[in-house]
Amino acid sequence: MNDPLNSTSQPDRLSLGEGNTPLVRSRNIGPAMGLPNLYFKLENLNPTGSYKDRFAAALVSEMVGNRQTRCIATSSGNTGAALAAYCAAAQIKCIIAVVDGAPMPKLKQMQLYGAELLMIDGFGTSAEVTSRVMDHLENLTGKLNRPLPISAYRFCASGMAGVESIAHEILDALDGTTEIFVPAGGGGLTLAVARGVIGRKGQAKVHCIQPEGNDTIATSLRTGIPAKSVGHSTTRISGLQVASVLDGNETIAACKALGGTGQTISDAAVLRWHKELAFREGIFCEPAGAVALAGVEKAISNGELDPNANIVCLVTGSGFKDMATVDSGFSLPPVTPADIDNAFKKLAQLLS
Ligand SMILES: Cc1ncc(COP(=O)(O)O)c(C=O)c1O
Repeated sequence: MNDPLNSTSQPDRLSLGEGNTPLVRSRNIGPAMGLPNLYFKLENLNPTGSYKDRFAAALVSEMVGNRQTRCIATSSGNTGAALAAYCAAAQIKCIIAVVDGAPMPKLKQMQLYGAELLMIDGFGTSAEVTSRVMDHLENLTGKLNRPLPISAYRFCASGMAGVESIAHEILDALDGTTEIFVPAGGGGLTLAVARGVIGRKGQAKVHCIQPEGNDTIATSLRTGIPAKSVGHSTTRISGLQVASVLDGNETIAACKALGGTGQTISDAAVLRWHKELAFREGIFCEPAGAVALAGVEKAISNGELDPNANIVCLVTGSGFKDMATVDSGFSLPPVTPADIDNAFKKLAQLLS
């Protein structure tokens, strides 16, 4: 039996089976774009459906070690779902302040794991409200001498160290020049991947891809100026609406050290690739999971990417996390019951 609190390789490590996610070569999109070595790192296949399980496994293991009985966190959805699941396994009470407008499936997922939720107006979209919430919660956790479990180095470096394993797995799997494309909100994920590469002295460039409506880091990285708050995030891509600067300047420094750059992409391009990933690769991700591929398209059109390099897109979250975007974005035909004769007629048409 696999005891989640007692995996044999690391006795104190709480694990629900996160990490070691598949790295699959593109079957259709890469060849069509002239990219023979385009890969997708399927972080959507982690236990709660996103890479944040790596963060939660590291952090909740630490909480267990510290005999912590409560976890107070903030989340745009995925961190909350991951923390709620790992806290359920560890039987730690979990309270999460969630961003305004977080997708319902992510919220229900947290609730099902037993977390208590607080949704705050403007949290996540307004830089002012966001920093007030962060300050208040940081104050609370500071009194307990614990980091605030936000997936950013600025708040919680020990949890983010768990995310660096994404880079280790990619470096172990691929030889030769590797270019890793990472979707970014506050920049913590990009920084974790870059630090993972740097820590292993790996040969990979790490690129930071942001929606135009939340360009706190990407353009600054291209133009050599410090990261900047956008005041109000206008992107609709859940998970990437981080109007304030979290790990921005550290991300810029780490990507630069590796020779990586930044790209901004439109929400429309992200939604197009979201659909293409499903239609042409069989990969069902949430919109943020398609951002890296939109960044690859932009880098290719800017002439900034060697088409023969190993190109890795991080597919960071599962499609089941954001069914509202599937409903609103793709004009899929309704599925309603037909009588059996009509159904057989339609079947014959489909087969003709
Ligand atoms: C699915 C997904 N991808 C990417 C990110 C980006 O992470 P970061 O804010 O660390 O840049 C997030 C953050 O919540 C996310 O949920």
